[in-house]
Amino acid sequence: MQKIRLFKPSIGKEELKNIKKVFKKSWLGYGPMVAKFEKKFAKFIGTKYCVGVNSGTAALHLSLLCNDFKRGKKVLLPAITFSATAASVLYCGLKPKFVDIKKEDLTIDFQDLKKKYSKDCVAVICVHMGGHPAEMDKIKKWAKEKKLLLIEDSAESCGAIYKGKKIGTWSDIATFSFEEKKIITTGDGGMICLNDKKKYEKIKSLSFHGWNIDPWKRHVRSFGSNNKFSKHWNYEIQNLGYKYNMNDLMASIGVAQLEKINSFNFKRQKILKRYLDGIKKLKYIKPTYPYELKNSSYWLFSINTNYRDELIDYLKTKNISTAVHFVPLPLNKLYKKYKSKSLKNTMTIWKKIVSLPFFPDLENKKIDYIINCLKSFDKKFN
Ligand SMILES: Cc1ncc(COP(=O)(O)O)c(C=O)c1O
Repeated sequence: MQKIRLFKPSIGKEELKNIKKVFKKSWLGYGPMVAKFEKKFAKFIGTKYCVGVNSGTAALHLSLLCNDFKRGKKVLLPAITFSATAASVLYCGLKPKFVDIKKEDLTIDFQDLKKKYSKDCVAVICVHMGGHPAEMDKIKKWAKEKKLLLIEDSAESCGAIYKGKKIGTWSDIATFSFEEKKIITTGDGGMICLNDKKKYEKIKSLSFHGWNIDPWKRHVRSFGSNNKFSKHWNYEIQNLGYKYNMNDLMASIGVAQLEKINSFNFKRQKILKRYLDGIKKLKYIKPTYPYELKNSSYWLFSINTNYRDELIDYLKTKNISTAVHFVPLPLNKLYKKYKSKSLKNTMTIWKKIVSLPFFPDLENKKIDYIINCLKSFDKKFN
């Protein structure tokens, strides 16, 4: 069997068609395509506002930054997540407070969250790990009581519905990632979704050098006989901003991807069903998540086994790519000093998890080949 990748973006002629339109206009930077993608994405998720940025990391950074939290305050977040979730906290001069995860689904443990809370906490970031929804209903209610800003890091989920509400609408601010491996992609990219107009305006400014006007608006105002905008070239720098904006080239891919998102998620559900049926009788290999396929948007197919490293080595010999999502953050040099007590689940479960190839265009024959390899591995221990 030829090499089977872990992730692969699903891109085609629709994306190319949109890219061509942008080329024809010769406007690749921040422009009307970004606005179009933002509008469509806001409608899809169900928030009033969206700001397109150049990564999920930038989205997280600005979601915290727009609140002007006092430096040194604490942000609660799960101990297992991608590094950017915690980096965004440090970028803002805040301190990460790591919360244990539930071993059943790797999302933030609500009981431990309540224990880890202290008066100097200003925000909580929930992560829909691998696409499995965090317990947003309980967390939302509690965060409101504690007056904490609630952020949904939805980088690994897009289009899922949890308890009748879209992922991305449970929080004060939700962030998405469109890097090449995610549910939909723009090559690299991200989105910030929210309902608060003031914060939306601040985030928009922060995402483009802190200006009070975006470069497309300035461009449009530079033509015509309308003197209303006589100083069209002028802008005011209102905030210490960043160069985090999305551009029209990225957005053109995003618009085409968004049209396909429901079919992507449907294909992902079908693949998961095939995998889960295939491995259900195995003794030493079990699914990491309690995959609930209806209305889902899973990003990972992850299994857990006490023989993780042996399995990874074995699958390597079979040309099957694997990964571990993720090594706990407090085990990394940068985050050691923030390690908190009682991260019991975190420190045990990560040693057992393996992510397997999973993307919408993964063919049945490859899935069956992977299942057969898992079966032969499992048999070795019987
Ligand atoms: C949970 C989580 N948060 C944030 C990010 C960062 O997104 P990006 O790579 O687009 O910066 C990722 C993915 O890479 C992620 O998985």
